[in-house]
Amino acid sequence: MLVTMKEILDKAMAGTYAVGAFNVPNLESIQATIEAAEELDVPVIIQHAQVHEDEGLTTLDEIGPTMVGYAKRAKVPVCVHLDHGVDFDYLVRAMHMGFTSVMIDASAKPYEENLAITKEVCKVAHALNVSVEAELGAMFNSAVGSGGRAASSLDDYDSADEVYTNPQQAKEFIEATGVDALAIAFGTVHGVYLTKPALDLDRVKLIHDACGIPLVMHGGSGVSDEDNRTAINNGITKINYYTYGTMAGANAVRDYLATKAEGEKIFFHDIVAEAKKGIKADVKRAMEIFATNLLAAR
Ligand code: 13P
Repeated sequence: MLVTMKEILDKAMAGTYAVGAFNVPNLESIQATIEAAEELDVPVIIQHAQVHEDEGLTTLDEIGPTMVGYAKRAKVPVCVHLDHGVDFDYLVRAMHMGFTSVMIDASAKPYEENLAITKEVCKVAHALNVSVEAELGAMFNSAVGSGGRAASSLDDYDSADEVYTNPQQAKEFIEATGVDALAIAFGTVHGVYLTKPALDLDRVKLIHDACGIPLVMHGGSGVSDEDNRTAINNGITKINYYTYGTMAGANAVRDYLATKAEGEKIFFHDIVAEAKKGIKADVKRAMEIFATNLLAAR
């Protein structure tokens, strides 16, 4: 069933677990993600990233209605979310299409501008019963699998306070904008980690204590199970995850092709089915970690 992000994240915060938010830029990843969530009987967020469109993957018009259709037919609560939306018009198009949640990512803009844009988006989205996620602080992109955006690191700054989310500022931002969830910066990166992640997990707790709304961790691929559990116990309720799932799909295809002899007939539908199996196994494992407390309470 199609639900808003607020509905599932408020429950996740009350139960101290996280809901996985998986990017699904093709049919098989939608199917794999929903099937995995149904098998575990956990809520899930499927998301389309505006940046993926810029990189030549599927467009909102192509994939959006399919995502909404699968969500409506699912046996578990599914939120259809726009990830890293940057243009107001694009966000409104997603809302009209039936998306139940949007992220406005104005985190690269000066604080006051981020606040003003986020407030505007909340006004429109909330009138349509659509949830809103915003971002405060700077997240880095790794040089691999981050979609070609510039890589950067904490080494380029004098202190973590310059880039990571400030708890007091987060509180003010939430009160002024009315956002339903906030993506925070504390050391995770998009794409493949080139060095072992060093996360400022105490900062998550400080932000949670100051703000009291669901917090979002982007860059979920490559975070250890232990760090995931601590992050969740400290207040993370939505974990964005894409890179490892799509790599698992590609690795499954590589393994499958390795079983084929030179010149043996191969079929695209078999390749796609192998990719789906690979993605499903990987995202299901991630869901089990994210929902540890929910599953344990059953
Ligand atoms: P990963 O690249 O770590 O999977 O993160 C995806 C993400 O945060 C999308 O917003």
